[in-house]
Amino acid sequence: MNSKKKFLVVANWKANPDSVKEAKKLYADIKKSTAKTKNVEVVVCPTYIHLPDMAPLASSGKVLLGAQDFFAQPNGSFTGSIGYEALLENKIKYAIVGHSERRAMGETNEIIAKKVLAALDNGISPILCVGESERGESLEYLNLLKNQLTDAFYKVPKSKVTSIVIAYEPIWAIGKNAKRNATSHEIQEIVIFVKRVIGDLYKTKSVPPIKIIYGGSVNAKDAGEILTEGGVDGLLVGHASLNAKNFGEILQIADNLKK
Ligand code: PGA
Repeated sequence: MNSKKKFLVVANWKANPDSVKEAKKLYADIKKSTAKTKNVEVVVCPTYIHLPDMAPLASSGKVLLGAQDFFAQPNGSFTGSIGYEALLENKIKYAIVGHSERRAMGETNEIIAKKVLAALDNGISPILCVGESERGESLEYLNLLKNQLTDAFYKVPKSKVTSIVIAYEPIWAIGKNAKRNATSHEIQEIVIFVKRVIGDLYKTKSVPPIKIIYGGSVNAKDAGEILTEGGVDGLLVGHASLNAKNFGEILQIADNLKK
């Protein structure tokens, strides 16, 4: 089974854990739980400050390291930013881009589009997060998603589309204070919608085989249903990925399901 057919499960550790010692231990425990997995590609995204210490642990390639964000310049006078050269030095192959928590800090669709291009030009697969803050009665949330996608794919050549991973992350379903979990039906609706938008953007009925994953309070109880009924190619897991046992269970579930 090649990696295109595997489920992609990404851990987004956000600003956790506190110490590099804890981060290394959590990573090692997660790696142990992948000892026998074959059908799942695992990526862990720690905080930047822990990345260089963790990079040597990831050399076997079984659990890849990813970045939670980056700046769309290689390096330079950009105080507080991490240029993409620093990611390349640490052999980072995936980077989350446009997470709602970064959008809430002022990141615009235009900035995100630049990051998507910079990642693609440097052999990094961007994990592009899109998602609405509310799902009301009107279909306004679909317009918002369409705009997020259209702006992010602006200037992406068709030949590079399949290197992008789209993460559907409805903001109302994210984190310990989430209003509620998304249903697999709601997720499936967006998977179909995203494929249609991408097809329209590239004026093709045969949509490039782009990976669409889901994030928002994913846990071992609902991971299986999301992967099967939701029709996604993987998961982006936040708080449940900070517990090696919980995350290990999610990985096992993904591994046992045939794609
Ligand atoms: P959560 O986070 O699993 O804690 O909801 C997901 C994310 O924000 O990527």
